[in-house]
Amino acid sequence: MSPYELTRTLPEDATDAALRADVLHGLTQSPKSLPPKWFYDARGSELFEEITALDEYYPTRAEREILLDRAPEIAAATGARTLVELGSGSSEKTRHLLDALPLLHSYVPVDVSGSALTGAADTLLAERPDLHVHALIADFTKELTLPDTPGPRLVAFLGGTIGNLLPDERADFLASVRAMLVPGDALLLGTDLVKDESVLVRAYDDASGVTAAFNKNVLAVVDRELGADFDPADFDHVALWDSGRRWIEMRLRARRDLTVKIPELDLVVTFEAGEEMRTEVSAKFTQTTVRSELAGAGMELAHWWTDEAGRFALSLATAV
Ligand code: SAH
Ligand code: TRP
Repeated sequence: MSPYELTRTLPEDATDAALRADVLHGLTQSPKSLPPKWFYDARGSELFEEITALDEYYPTRAEREILLDRAPEIAAATGARTLVELGSGSSEKTRHLLDALPLLHSYVPVDVSGSALTGAADTLLAERPDLHVHALIADFTKELTLPDTPGPRLVAFLGGTIGNLLPDERADFLASVRAMLVPGDALLLGTDLVKDESVLVRAYDDASGVTAAFNKNVLAVVDRELGADFDPADFDHVALWDSGRRWIEMRLRARRDLTVKIPELDLVVTFEAGEEMRTEVSAKFTQTTVRSELAGAGMELAHWWTDEAGRFALSLATAV
């Protein structure tokens, strides 16, 4: 019996049905695409943790620096008794926040990756046996039913994960976060910032190929879950900066003409040599774009903190 509660808000087969729908939709469109949340099976979550330790991948270090510097201010500004964290992953950086919140009663990590959630909860409770941890296996783009824990609530969304949503998805997402907040609650949002293209591209195309392996892992997920015969070696990892849309776009490029069978979908997909399919975007922000997207969802920027080098920002926002 685990010393924490683990709630799965999705029916057992919902992930499966959603994966089928997403893959069918994405691979029958032109250009083809695959949706990002399927990166994070157990292997994908491990690979992401490796990414966070890469020299080239600065966002994790920059955000940790801000959290370490600003945690006392965040604690004073929010007086949070419940910390809800969306896309919490390993909760590794979150401990700086947990340690700094003197009134904290409950921690509610929310993630689609059950393996990341249970790993994080075990590690945290070994250090803080008094904390109430209520882990939720759920999709943060869907409606969330949060456990009944004491307020004020601080909703954290770290890692720049908001940039992995497309603009209209982001607007819907921020509106649903806004709907979770009652007066006194707040949102703590981590966003990566627009910067030099070469720095950005290296963060998503590292020399040792970990990001490439992470990107290709989505093919392994489709193979395992839907019986497909994608061979990751048939694809190259591509990361490019779209200066108009201000996002890094991750793609997989077919190395030769390919025919891929996906029996569970009754689908055969062909790729021409050089054809690229989009797997992920990672949008980059400025203070102006963060402020205006928050305002569009009925929230107001109360604090804006960056790391010393100005690479990454944490915003604290409240409902208007
Ligand atoms: N917050 C951590 C992890 C970021 S990686 C950090 O800052 O390092 C993104 C995390 O979001 C992964 O753990 C992934 O499993 C989770 N995730 C991605 N899409 C999701 C969705 N739609 N619903 C819930 N969790 C999601
Ligand atoms: N939220 C992370 C980011 O946008 C996710 C990420 C890092 C990622 N590296 C990646 C997603 C490579 C796909 C491929 O920085």
